[in-house]
Amino acid sequence: MSETILVTGACGQIGSELVPALRKVYNRVIASDLKEPPESLNDASDFIRLDVLYKNGLLDCIRRFKVTQVYHLAAVLSATGERNPEMAWRINMKGLRNVLDVCAANNVRKLFFPSTIAVFGPTTPKNGTPQFTVMEPNTIYGISKLAGERWCHWYHLKTGLDVRGLRYPGLISYKTKAGGGTTDYAVEIFFEAVQHKKYVCYLSENTVLPMMYMPDAIRGTIELMEAPAERISTRSSYNFSGISFSPAELAAEIKKHIPEFTIQYQPDFRQQIADGWPQSIDDSVAQRDWGWQPAYSLQAIVVDMLQNIRRLKSSSA
Ligand code: SER
Repeated sequence: MSETILVTGACGQIGSELVPALRKVYNRVIASDLKEPPESLNDASDFIRLDVLYKNGLLDCIRRFKVTQVYHLAAVLSATGERNPEMAWRINMKGLRNVLDVCAANNVRKLFFPSTIAVFGPTTPKNGTPQFTVMEPNTIYGISKLAGERWCHWYHLKTGLDVRGLRYPGLISYKTKAGGGTTDYAVEIFFEAVQHKKYVCYLSENTVLPMMYMPDAIRGTIELMEAPAERISTRSSYNFSGISFSPAELAAEIKKHIPEFTIQYQPDFRQQIADGWPQSIDDSVAQRDWGWQPAYSLQAIVVDMLQNIRRLKSSSA
């Protein structure tokens, strides 16, 4: 397909898997980040250093490469954001506004915006959280992403920019470390289980949160972006659901494969963040509009994660 795609924040948990997936579909995918690229992103030579806070650099890149689509992944997540609210606000807000401005003014055809379950808050219905509901987030991450959703909607209305977004749940993956979120335990636990057969969890045992396996998230993201524009009824972001589980349920599933595995619970400041979030998400609007269906169950995720982490461990030994 003749598109030139720019991915910001490409070295993060999503970007490091989305870029190779996009490269299978599109002929030119430019990965960008502030950081040095890992080998998996560097092989196709299409990597540039880019700071989304520096608008001229962004503009130059989009013009020079004649970028037709942008996946704007660069952001600060919930736990890091609570530690440094000023930085989180600046990167999440100013970065997005720069991207929106440059896209709208330079005929970029499509923009992807990653939103989050953190746009909801303690006053939102916790189970089967609907697409349209009370939204009173109480983290800077959630506040900035909710404002970001509204900016996306506004740009679509005012400029016609074809912007599409997903409210990602906690994402589980093994290729790149999770990046400062409240749901990161569901990644760390696997590495600790394989390596040390024990894990100290910073959330309490019955804290149920919405989660998704990365292959589902990547497929859903590309499916949303490839759906015909007339199918897209919401320009803020879609509810996007995989499965829901608690640390105790995940630990029990891991124990089926590693019987010696033990878990302890020592909740920290992230417990309060998690307590303000939904437990399960109703994504019937995404199902209706562009046919979203997740594929991975908890059992399938655990089998696949353990297999891949063991493989990585033995190949690096
Ligand atoms: N995984 C994110 C976080 O925990 C939620 O979108 O911050």
